[in-house]
Amino acid sequence: MVEIAEIREKFDELARPTLQSGRLYQLAAFVQHGTTTTLDHVIAVAYTSLFTALSSGMQVNEGELVRGALLHDYYLYDWHDCKAAPDKWHGFTHPRHALNNARADFPDLSPLEQDIILHHMFPLVPIPPRSKEAWIVSACDKLCSSAETMFGNPYAKGGR
Ligand SMILES: [Fe+2]
Ligand SMILES: [Fe+2]
Repeated sequence: MVEIAEIREKFDELARPTLQSGRLYQLAAFVQHGTTTTLDHVIAVAYTSLFTALSSGMQVNEGELVRGALLHDYYLYDWHDCKAAPDKWHGFTHPRHALNNARADFPDLSPLEQDIILHHMFPLVPIPPRSKEAWIVSACDKLCSSAETMFGNPYAKGGR
């Protein structure tokens, strides 16, 4: 059994380089659901994804799982603001916008990380994830999004 402290330590180590790169800092200015920022959301999805993999004994590429999850909503606009959004189809198109931005800022993005970003909205986007890492992130994204919608900002109370 993997200890929670061990998972948190591993997460911090894996997430830090990405959180300090590119335009990740901009995600703190965008609201994802309710009062949760997009930065809070992607950190929660990445942590939950790593927790799911490690606590269930799944063999995954931990580094790519965390970086792909941190970049899965890297679309860099406020989707509530119709003037800022590039189109009216955010739910369907934001994975492609996120991937384009991620490729620009992280040129070494791996095929697995691209899979995580591009297919996280399945079944809203028609092509399903190709890797177990992308399936985990897609499931954890739905779980975190539901919690954010139902409970306001669940991370503010939890002490993360
Ligand atoms: Fe998304
Ligand atoms: Fe998301």
